[in-house]
Amino acid sequence: MKLWGGRFTKPTNELVDEYTSSIGFDQKLAKHDIKGSLAHVEMLGKCGIIPVEDASQIKEGLKKVLAKIEAGEAELSEADEDIHMNVERLLIEEIGPVGGKLHTGRSRNDQVALDMRLYAREAIEEVIALLKAVQQALIGQAKTNMDTIMPGYTHLQRAQPVLFAHHMMAYVFMFQRDVERLEDSLKRVNKSPLGAGALAGTTFPIDRKFVADQLGFDGICENSLDAVSDRDFVVEFLSNSSLAGTHLSRLCEELVQWSSAEFNFVELDDSYTTGSSMMPQKKNPDVAELVRGKTGRLYGNLLGMLTTLKGLPLAYNKDMQEDKEGMFDSHETLKGALQLFAGMIESMEVKKESMYKAVTNDYSNATDLADYLVNKGLTFRESHAVVGQIVLHCIQAGIYLLDLSFEEFKQYSDVIEADIFDALQPETVVNARAAAGGTAKQSVLDQIEKAEQLLESSYADKV
Ligand code: ARG
Repeated sequence: MKLWGGRFTKPTNELVDEYTSSIGFDQKLAKHDIKGSLAHVEMLGKCGIIPVEDASQIKEGLKKVLAKIEAGEAELSEADEDIHMNVERLLIEEIGPVGGKLHTGRSRNDQVALDMRLYAREAIEEVIALLKAVQQALIGQAKTNMDTIMPGYTHLQRAQPVLFAHHMMAYVFMFQRDVERLEDSLKRVNKSPLGAGALAGTTFPIDRKFVADQLGFDGICENSLDAVSDRDFVVEFLSNSSLAGTHLSRLCEELVQWSSAEFNFVELDDSYTTGSSMMPQKKNPDVAELVRGKTGRLYGNLLGMLTTLKGLPLAYNKDMQEDKEGMFDSHETLKGALQLFAGMIESMEVKKESMYKAVTNDYSNATDLADYLVNKGLTFRESHAVVGQIVLHCIQAGIYLLDLSFEEFKQYSDVIEADIFDALQPETVVNARAAAGGTAKQSVLDQIEKAEQLLESSYADKV
């Protein structure tokens, strides 16, 4: 008979068991479920709700159940619906009817909310650590490329030269926001819902704070109805994962482009690329493409969860069981991508010469010529027009600005002096952007220093 079978006159239809059970996926929560139960039963004993000896027996039993589940020796059954009822059944099989005291003062509704919070907390901490490793890899590339100049783009047209290090640091700060969002979400995730009961609280003299402390929570969910209905923390995780995925995907897109023969800016290490079954010469950036592609799942999980929650009346509804697969999938998807990413970035070969060629064979120093004329007294608008003419002439002649002779420059504007040739060199152009946040070497070094400070601080320092 089912644990809740008392008021039923018939067994459930087999298809109903299959359809409503979650054990197929929520067995992932076994560890969290038992961790929560250990804290709960400790509290039941401490508060005199059940005898201390029974609590000890239950604790021992729970540990054995966990060991069996982890060793793959426990039989998890669909008829027992979910991990919570499977664990309770296994416990009773292990220690006898005293195991039936575990669920005193608790419901699966507060229990599952607790398990998901424990899972989310762990997932967040893991993702933060992985993001930080990616940031470190990017900083590493930045540090070894302090003299590598590449074209910076707008509209995917060469715009102004930048340091490759500057480009890497852009992603470091992007991922820093992801880290900070995840850290911030811990304030809301790290609250214990246990003790909310099914929805209204419990008649037993429980100590919610004690359970929360044992489980390392910062506090308790204040309202029992909210405690069992709240899946905001799942949405937040899915949303934060989506945004981190967006950032990864943008970088992947750049890696795919940069590693093409058309760009030839980087070469991904052989160990992070794959070949073609047909074309022997191919070396494909599959990892980067797949990370880009899998970002779609992250968005799908977010949208799915938001839609599931929309319109749900208080308090618990079975719909909420749908929070799990998306949460697990986004966690695994992001983790899979991040685990590969640091190594892929670290091992990537940066083609300095090739980037430099792209910078010199274009007009990305045109803004600097315009700024030069402004410094000599022209208004920016006048100067823009003059430089437009010069660029047009060069395009028609098939040359670049630095191919012009001094006399030719003079024909366009007699304020131009011999120092123009230095002013238009890629190194000068880059280092001229010395204001905070710019691409000048010193500014990028400052960015690295700042990023390294940010990376050192953690959630623990902030609460
Ligand atoms: N498997 C359920 C879930 O994941 C656990 C809570 C079930 N509660 C209930 N009253 N049916 O949401």
